[in-house]
Amino acid sequence: MRKEKLLVTGGAGFIGSHFVDAALKAGYAVFTVDKLDYCGNLLNLENALANRSHRFLKADIGDTDQMREVFKSFRPDVVVHLAAQTHVDRSIDDPSVFIQNNVVATQKLLEVSRHYWERLKSVRKERFRFIYVSTDEVYGSLKADEKSFTLNCPYRPASPYAASKAAGEMIALSYWRTFGFPTVVEHACNNYGPRQFPEKLIPLMIERARSGKSLPIYGNGENIREWMYVTDHARALLAIVQKGRAGATYNVGTGDEVSNIKLVRALCTLMDSACPGLFPFDQAISFVADRPGHDFRYSMDSRQSAKELGFKPAVRLIDGLHKTLAWYLENDKWLDSVRSGQYPEWMKRYEEKDAH
Ligand SMILES: NC(=O)c1ccc[n+]([C@@H]2O[C@H](COP(=O)([O-])OP(=O)(O)OC[C@H]3O[C@@H](n4cnc5c(N)ncnc54)[C@H](O)[C@@H]3O)[C@@H](O)[C@H]2O)c1
Repeated sequence: MRKEKLLVTGGAGFIGSHFVDAALKAGYAVFTVDKLDYCGNLLNLENALANRSHRFLKADIGDTDQMREVFKSFRPDVVVHLAAQTHVDRSIDDPSVFIQNNVVATQKLLEVSRHYWERLKSVRKERFRFIYVSTDEVYGSLKADEKSFTLNCPYRPASPYAASKAAGEMIALSYWRTFGFPTVVEHACNNYGPRQFPEKLIPLMIERARSGKSLPIYGNGENIREWMYVTDHARALLAIVQKGRAGATYNVGTGDEVSNIKLVRALCTLMDSACPGLFPFDQAISFVADRPGHDFRYSMDSRQSAKELGFKPAVRLIDGLHKTLAWYLENDKWLDSVRSGQYPEWMKRYEEKDAH
């Protein structure tokens, strides 16, 4: 029987690489396109690269000629679009890179995909999906006592990152409404787990604690996020590949909401047991000037999506933190690979900002 074919953009990044692994395991043929920006790492695809059902191309999704060739040679059934610039702080430093990659390049990819889709025969045309992986951040911020975001909530993105994701999403949905091009949008909550670049909260704290550095937390640390273990997200995306309705949007969360300070304290406790002999890690916590436009709380009402997709997270937060910490403590080779390149330069700028 012919394997279904998934074209995955951004597959050498954090979530993308876990999704590629899950899709191969589920029996799909996968073509990964990634431009290997600072977050993209071929070590993330170590298993996939050894799999005969997987192909990889280093390319920018905004390169229309190259992407046209990929569609022509691979002939995907589904596109799972994860490629993006993803770090909020970087989007505050330089929004233009986010507009270029998340908006302009996304539109170019949509256009190539649409032209490919228009020429498909009816059964394959009917089956085709373009899945746009977006974020809960498009909704903006909630107060502590406000109800979780539903699909009816207005979009109020605060950071240039969130705004660029919302813009890409709007363009993708406009392709559905205007051309009937079968777009599906997913809003995911904060992901964590192995292979996340150590500029995001959890791996950043682990990396700094291991190096005996301070653990800087924005503002008073009371900001709340909803957390999902990355392999759960990969499972949710597989459910969308299988059941996602054209034109639909799915809010995919876990209900695991916690403040940043509680999360970092929990991580410190886990590190105290994992690294005995070192000082209590929570003594290294310091509070630094808040991020401009910092959203207070994200929380999504995922009941409708969970029902329709039949998706339920399997990894609770404390277990996921345990697994994540164990992975970072055991994977020096991976950490060494990301510590080269742009990372030291970014860390220096980050520390200079903290000092003010
Ligand atoms: N990490 C989260 O908590 C989270 C939550 C919700 C949604 N998302 C979304 O999920 C997706 C993946 O996030 P992630 O955390 O894995 O990010 P990541 O930064 O680890 O990976 C992004 C990947 O995209 C690649 N890329 C960027 N621009 C590209 C381009 N123009 N052409 C080709 N490749 C390009 C990078 O090289 C990198 O490998 C993003 O779209 C993000 O907005 C992430």
